[in-house]
Amino acid sequence: MSLAYQCPLCQSPLQLIEKSMRCDNNHTFDYAKEGYVNLLPVQNKNSKQPGDNLDMVQARRAFLSTGHYQFLQQAIATLVAELSPKNVIDLGCGEGFYTHAIANKCQGKMYGVDISKSAIKYAAKRYENCQFSVASISQAPFADYQSDVLISIFAPLFEQELTRLLSKNGSLIVASPGPWHLKELKQKIYREVNAHTPVAAPQNFTLIQQNLIEQKVKLGFEDVKNLITMTPFAWKFRPEHWQELEKQGEQTVTLSFYISHFRKVD
Ligand SMILES: C[S@@+](CC[C@H](N)C(=O)[O-])C[C@H]1O[C@@H](n2cnc3c(N)ncnc32)[C@H](O)[C@@H]1O
Ligand SMILES: [Zn+2]
Repeated sequence: MSLAYQCPLCQSPLQLIEKSMRCDNNHTFDYAKEGYVNLLPVQNKNSKQPGDNLDMVQARRAFLSTGHYQFLQQAIATLVAELSPKNVIDLGCGEGFYTHAIANKCQGKMYGVDISKSAIKYAAKRYENCQFSVASISQAPFADYQSDVLISIFAPLFEQELTRLLSKNGSLIVASPGPWHLKELKQKIYREVNAHTPVAAPQNFTLIQQNLIEQKVKLGFEDVKNLITMTPFAWKFRPEHWQELEKQGEQTVTLSFYISHFRKVD
């Protein structure tokens, strides 16, 4: 079942008219040539380039293409497919690495939303089996109570929106860092590395299942550089840290993820 988009300005339903989406109040949003729709009004932008910038997007894209996160991608896609959803929204989908893998395993319609235009441009160009939009997930551009499954992979969670978007008994799947995710890299910049704890159930949700999946991988300097650049702690790496990493060459890095399945309770 397709999801109905709603206007980010007045929350009225959006209709597809030629290559634009338009509401009854004549707010109009155009489809880009890559096939995504931009539903982020200028007045809702907090900065000129909200979300991940092009450097982060390109680093993530390069790292993800190495296949080192494929075990996480496939674990999530398998879990979602088992739920047989009619539709799924990937909130903060980035360049669609997980979004398209879920679409490949599921019969339902797949949607990806991200505030970063650079990320969505890549996603829409590359993956034709999903519908992508540039929008804020703090006010996601979909009507109430329609979605069967929501996905959040290392993206911010807006609790009220999760409740509003999901249909009765809908599922929320959250991927977050496991206890010692990237510990070898964090040790370079933090005197003490603290273990990550699992994400707690958002309000109106109950935990169904939580899995921890881990792998240790050997990475060369280019992969390490991309992996660090796609993280929020990249800015802490000074020139001397980069030199040390380059000198070290190949190193073992822990990849560790919690996959949490929550169900909405009414
Ligand atoms: C760490 S990245 C993860 C991307 C993707 N889920 C992945 O794992 O490959 C977080 C993503 O959330 C997006 N993001 C942050 N705040 C957002 C918001 N308010 N609305 C929509 N997307 C947002 C960023 O642009 C970025 O693409
Ligand atoms: Zn409108």
